[in-house]
Amino acid sequence: SFLEVEEDPVTVLVTGAAGQIGYALVPMIARGEMLGPNRPVILHLLDIEPAAEALNGVKMELIDAAFPLLKGVVATTNVVEACTDVDIAIMVGGFPRKDGMERKDVMSKNVSIYKAQASALHYTIDGFSQRFSLLLPLLIVLLVANPANTNALILKEFAPSIPEDNITSLTRLDHNRALGQISEKLNVHVSDVKNVIIWGNHSSTQYPDVNHATVSTDKGTKYVRELVNNDHWLNTEFITTVQQRGAAIIKARKLSSALSAASAACDHIRDWVLGTPKGTWVSMGVYSDGSYGVPPGLIYSFPVTCEKGEWSIVQGLKIDEFSRAKMDATAEELIEEKALAYSCLH
Ligand code: NAD
Ligand code: LMR
Repeated sequence: SFLEVEEDPVTVLVTGAAGQIGYALVPMIARGEMLGPNRPVILHLLDIEPAAEALNGVKMELIDAAFPLLKGVVATTNVVEACTDVDIAIMVGGFPRKDGMERKDVMSKNVSIYKAQASALHYTIDGFSQRFSLLLPLLIVLLVANPANTNALILKEFAPSIPEDNITSLTRLDHNRALGQISEKLNVHVSDVKNVIIWGNHSSTQYPDVNHATVSTDKGTKYVRELVNNDHWLNTEFITTVQQRGAAIIKARKLSSALSAASAACDHIRDWVLGTPKGTWVSMGVYSDGSYGVPPGLIYSFPVTCEKGEWSIVQGLKIDEFSRAKMDATAEELIEEKALAYSCLH
């Protein structure tokens, strides 16, 4: 049964919950922005010992906010306690990059976290303590911490009890950034733009593709390429703006994106669990099955539609030569990252 009993709460784990994304994300979840306005939630918040006091402060504020949907909060530095009986795990814990770094520069610090936490999640699933099978078919995982795709792959490899389809990484922020850039360019509302695609890695090699993207107008649905009528801009500046947006935010805020990242994480889980609207796809980092010639065995961002907690890659889209080269380049980077991740673990 899939989310059948309306009153049953869903337990959501947020790791790195004392950090800045955590601080933006937990109130969104507790307000129902992730699972809808009728779904009660229990929050499990995990952070590390040096952040224990701050984490407790977040718990205090959650209590003070008196959220009607919030049925319980566990704030802990114990990984096993945090992972027990979890339906949805949002993995944010780790270290963000600073100005001038690439996301893979935080690899050695972050990848070992995901190997360790994979084991904790693996054992919760392996044991029989969970009650999440009543609500969702099985635990689902979203990896937010960078390098997100490769951390997700490591988590998958070290948590063999979690089906590979249940482990995803966040590229919805990049997807939303692409929608935002098109909406600004055309001066249309962002919700009228749809079906952009982020291919590949959540890194500066990602390929934001607008070849299939559309805008709803008074005169019907039009292709973005037709309306923008400037292939040069779409093939250069648009792509680099989206690829470099994370760095631009760090430069401006002196901190990496937080409210937009938290919002994208809610969008990702909401669409995955409750389904994508008809005729609309979103971008998610998922385990490649070889679709579009992407090497299997990578967590790669694809266009997906979701229904009842299951995603499927949108098939049959025409890929031109320009796109092919960019899709291959970002796959190459993921292959290198995977090797680098393993070298960090040894
Ligand atoms: P932050 O430093 O503010 O918070 C991270 C928190 O994680 C800290 O409280 C830290 O104590 C905690 N932490 C560290 N190791 C941990 C562990 N082993 N277990 C549990 N918690 C641990 O950072 P932030 O700005 O919230 O960003 C978090 C991560 O998300 C970074 O890696 C960042 O690069 C990434 N990020 C990804 C996206 C995306 O779109 N995929 C977007 C924004 C940020
Ligand atoms: C982002 O895209 O904003 C995050 O991944 C943070 C970063 O390091 O860019």
